[in-house]
Amino acid sequence: MNSFSSNEERTDIHSKEILISREEINLRLEQLGSEISKDYRGKEIHLVGVLNGAFMFLADLARHLSIPCQICFLQASSYKNKKVSTGEVILMHNLDLSGKDVLIVEDIFDTGLTLKHISEDLNMQQPASLEICALLNKRIPNKMPVNVKYIGFEIDNRFVVGYGLDYAEKYRELPHISCLD
Ligand code: IMP
Repeated sequence: MNSFSSNEERTDIHSKEILISREEINLRLEQLGSEISKDYRGKEIHLVGVLNGAFMFLADLARHLSIPCQICFLQASSYKNKKVSTGEVILMHNLDLSGKDVLIVEDIFDTGLTLKHISEDLNMQQPASLEICALLNKRIPNKMPVNVKYIGFEIDNRFVVGYGLDYAEKYRELPHISCLD
């Protein structure tokens, strides 16, 4: 792709509706950070970021914690056909979380399929505790029964990009969240 078409794409995405601004994200992360720090007071928390989508969220959330933390990542790929999950989730990691207080940090709780697989997988390591923090919770029917303790924002059933979230690996770098549809 040449630089001209790439610039055109940027202009295009920047003209899309901003659903959640950088300022709103910052403010919410401040609140989430103090809530999590309060809940884990006196403990060391192990943040497990779900790549690729959660890289920016985790980096910013960690900066709002006032408790000691360790940071690691796992890679989750869910196979999608026309933006719809086929039900297959592949996890890749080399984590040892036995006896640790673990907080999974995910970009979006959509159907919950990915989070269900991740929590089942990590639970097998017998962590001291295992909770989930998702930046976004998409309001859709028939979600998997996954307990997401910390949620940044509730959103309607729209396809969103930015702040780590992609469409075909693009738009992750945007500092805000936009709707693509
Ligand atoms: P779930 O397994 O259906 O909950 O989907 C989880 C994954 O799908 C997320 O980690 C995202 O990578 C991706 N995803 C779901 N909805 C969106 C969206 O609106 N924009 C970008 N990615 C999404």
